[in-house]
Amino acid sequence: MTLHNETSLASRAAGALPAHGSTLLQARDVFKNYGPIKVLKNVNLDLAQGERHVVIGPNGAGKSTLFKVLSGELPPTSGTITLRNEDVSTQKGYRRVRKGVGRSFQVARVFLEMTALDNVAVSIEAREANCGRNGGFLALSTPRAIIDEALGLLSDLGLYAVKDTQGAVLAHGDRKRLELAMSLALKPKILMLDEPTAGMSPTDRAAAVNLIDRIVRDNQLSLLLTEHDMGVVFQLGTRLSVLHYGEVVVSGEPDVVRADPLVREIYLGRKSGHA
Ligand SMILES: Nc1ncnc2c1ncn2[C@@H]1O[C@H](COP(=O)(O)OP(=O)(O)O)[C@@H](O)[C@H]1O
Ligand SMILES: [Mg+2]
Repeated sequence: MTLHNETSLASRAAGALPAHGSTLLQARDVFKNYGPIKVLKNVNLDLAQGERHVVIGPNGAGKSTLFKVLSGELPPTSGTITLRNEDVSTQKGYRRVRKGVGRSFQVARVFLEMTALDNVAVSIEAREANCGRNGGFLALSTPRAIIDEALGLLSDLGLYAVKDTQGAVLAHGDRKRLELAMSLALKPKILMLDEPTAGMSPTDRAAAVNLIDRIVRDNQLSLLLTEHDMGVVFQLGTRLSVLHYGEVVVSGEPDVVRADPLVREIYLGRKSGHA
């Protein structure tokens, strides 16, 4: 099948500025192969300041791989990733954290043997050690200040009651929220969440969406999200990109993407004209 790319960011790149503000994170002509498997094919994607950009697409489309390439966990096979106009294509993830990228993972990565509180405290310490002040001399917060900050984050995310519970025995929803707390402990400007509501009950999912919405608003973050649940997609997204077999086939405002006949056919499984 020939895939259209009429509203792709590649074509936008030559034209108008993104609606929300200056571009923070950008992928240009990105390819990613795992050995002989071509997973990302000529991906172009922009995240503008203040934008909430949701990447959708069927399982196996390459969403998590795209996140890994954007966050620095994996290098692209070819193409360019820029962060505030700086080429970071070959820069490791920790250096991008320093520049404001915080991310979560599709399968929550928390320290299983540590309590919720210690998990967040470790992230705060990592931020301080990584960011260092005074031209590289570390000025670490006192242990008390770190614990207080961690407790504040846990309270904010509704995790205070489980602060002393080990990661291994946290309920799934709590573990996802703990990972969010750990991402926020890095004080990111860009929050990248890979399927943050995966595996949640409808009630937990609704609460998680409200939480993400509030956190992004309160901290004036820019959000890049992958998500399966279409309710979440349309509630949170100000811009959607559809990834299909590793290609961005449509990108634009939610209503435009929703109405796109190609999207309805390939992703929503509907023919245009049939609501
Ligand atoms: N480390 C890997 N090695 C080989 N193939 C991989 C690896 N990670 C993912 N893939 C493959 O790449 C494709 C895209 O995977 P992924 O990025 O996880 O998609 P999504 O997040 O959209 O479900 C899938 O076919 C998957 O099997
Ligand atoms: Mg995935």
